[in-house]
Amino acid sequence: MGRYSFILCVSLSLTQVAAYSQPAQTPVLHIQADEATAAVSPLFSGMMTEEINHAYDGGLYGELIQNRVFKDDAARPVHWSLAQEGATASMALDDTNGLNENLGTSLRLEVGSLAPGARAGIANEGYWGIPVKPRTVYHASFYAKAAAGFDGPVTVSIETTNGATVFASAEVGRLSGDWRKYSVTLKTPRKIAPTADARFVLTIGSAGTVWFDLVSLFPPTWHDRPNGNRVDLMRELAEMRPRFLRFPGGNFLEGDSITNRFPWKQTLGDLAERPGHPGCWGYRASDGLGLLEFLEWAEDLKAEPVLAVYAGYSLAPKSELIQPGADLAPYVADALDEIEYVMGDTNTKWGARRAADGHPAPFKLTYVEIGNEDWFDGTRSYDGRFAQFFDAIKAKYPQLQCISTVGNEQPAEKRVHSRKPDVVDEHYYWSEAGFAQEAPSRFEKYDRNGPKIFVGEWAAYEDVVPWDEKSQHLPPTPSLKAALGDAVWMAAMERNSDLIVMQCYAPMLVNVNPGGRQWRPNLIGYDALRCFGSPSYYANAMFNANRGDVVVRTSGEGLNQGKTAALDYSVTKDSAHGILYIKVVNVTGEPQPLRLEVAGVKRVISHGTAVVLTSAEETDTNSLSDPVKVAPVTEKIEGLAPSFTRTFPPYSITVLKIQTK
Ligand code: AHR
Repeated sequence: MGRYSFILCVSLSLTQVAAYSQPAQTPVLHIQADEATAAVSPLFSGMMTEEINHAYDGGLYGELIQNRVFKDDAARPVHWSLAQEGATASMALDDTNGLNENLGTSLRLEVGSLAPGARAGIANEGYWGIPVKPRTVYHASFYAKAAAGFDGPVTVSIETTNGATVFASAEVGRLSGDWRKYSVTLKTPRKIAPTADARFVLTIGSAGTVWFDLVSLFPPTWHDRPNGNRVDLMRELAEMRPRFLRFPGGNFLEGDSITNRFPWKQTLGDLAERPGHPGCWGYRASDGLGLLEFLEWAEDLKAEPVLAVYAGYSLAPKSELIQPGADLAPYVADALDEIEYVMGDTNTKWGARRAADGHPAPFKLTYVEIGNEDWFDGTRSYDGRFAQFFDAIKAKYPQLQCISTVGNEQPAEKRVHSRKPDVVDEHYYWSEAGFAQEAPSRFEKYDRNGPKIFVGEWAAYEDVVPWDEKSQHLPPTPSLKAALGDAVWMAAMERNSDLIVMQCYAPMLVNVNPGGRQWRPNLIGYDALRCFGSPSYYANAMFNANRGDVVVRTSGEGLNQGKTAALDYSVTKDSAHGILYIKVVNVTGEPQPLRLEVAGVKRVISHGTAVVLTSAEETDTNSLSDPVKVAPVTEKIEGLAPSFTRTFPPYSITVLKIQTK
């Protein structure tokens, strides 16, 4: 993918970096517990999300029917097949009998002859199968109408892909010549083994012609929200304790053309009014997870929304641009409408629309990001485009912080100069060794009077850059080796959280089925039935769970953070409770002893806890079949004192939680 060629990449192998000095004496970490060097940003850390790797459709969004409005392919009803036993039937897309203007294509089923007791209908394969679990209630719905001569009911079932076993079934309707919505609940029995070897089927039992549209099947959702999110993935996300959610992308915001940018207005309201749109990662987005659903997703996680607005630049295959000035004005107005939808009172036009959509209370919004990765815009129009959005947003909402998408990792001539952005978004997809080399000093060099930093996308990869085709042959989620690079990077960002106000790993979600992904590495993997966190997921969760509110002054002896450092670290404190969080990363294959000297406290309580993420090999990783091969272990530790020595295991990330008085 040539479009990524500007992303700064450091790809050293660990052996290049790892002329680790083996100090003659045990190195020392001095911790001055009563001196804070910075406040830990309350927005450390969050999540970045976009429709990539089937993150929403076929992922977090609960919908189980793939191609529910028959628009995924203009030529064929992809993901649908005929279910016919003892019948002659056919099915075809019909562009002349749509449900409404937005859903202009339906699926026409024509059933000719039927043997007594036979059935014929349409079957959906789901997203790599329909997940069937015991004693589970599913909500099915569809729109249908029939040609004259047929007014029978429709049988709705979830069954094995060969139709041999029916897990749940119900009959609905008598159809008529008008479009009507039919809904039914299906409950699976108690004694079945979970399987994704299943399909969803709508059949009729006599000859006739029927049109279907917006066929939907939902399993139970998080917080029982209608049109909600998958429970196991939401649990995984909640356990990461994110402080914000950046949406809707990434490249997904920009789209691969101006027409295909994220169409927030058509992602609102009744699903029958949402046409969906072509995503930029090779598949169509249903937009069932639309703007309000993003906001409610953030709300469910107690995370703050960080809203990205389209800024007049679309990316690939050929970039498209709206020049600043009069041409850009409607896009600025659209962004103001979007902000009003998020945070406006119900007496505003878009605040009222939000209330009508079911959420009268405004959402908290502090940060608005203007575009995405606008350094790709070779015409250098971003300064002008940013200024136009910035001025309009500040005029109406002076309290909002505006984020520029061109940070200091990009050449100065690409950055915004005509305004001072409140924050700049920097993206780092680096090898783990690149992080190990750069992290220790990178942010220390930054001008503290410049804009604050949002590290809005970052991830350590092993060996192959994410946009290289070869990465498709590696596991979809990273190994412990990458997680070590992630941890070193997180320690660096935490130490510099006077400068870095927010940070989030990307991408977050990946459907691990063949063909499911466009990118690696990713934080959380899943198929229709199961999910798992990668070692990087656990590293992120460990940092989030042990945040503290201030960064504590530290200095190393024989422990030079930098190119030859075997150990990296960050120390924070919960100042209300006197708890120290000492994070230590051992990137080497050798145990590394470290003496810890804690000053500035009256006492160190002798027992504490250690949370350790490690494994025998740095290449170890997690998968659907071995989901917690690399997972944190919490142990009690004794013998703590103002001076103590601990040996950190090979390839490990450790958080020591120590109570002081
Ligand atoms: O996270 C994947 C992609 O990487 C994002 O869409 C884009 O912003 C970045 O280049």
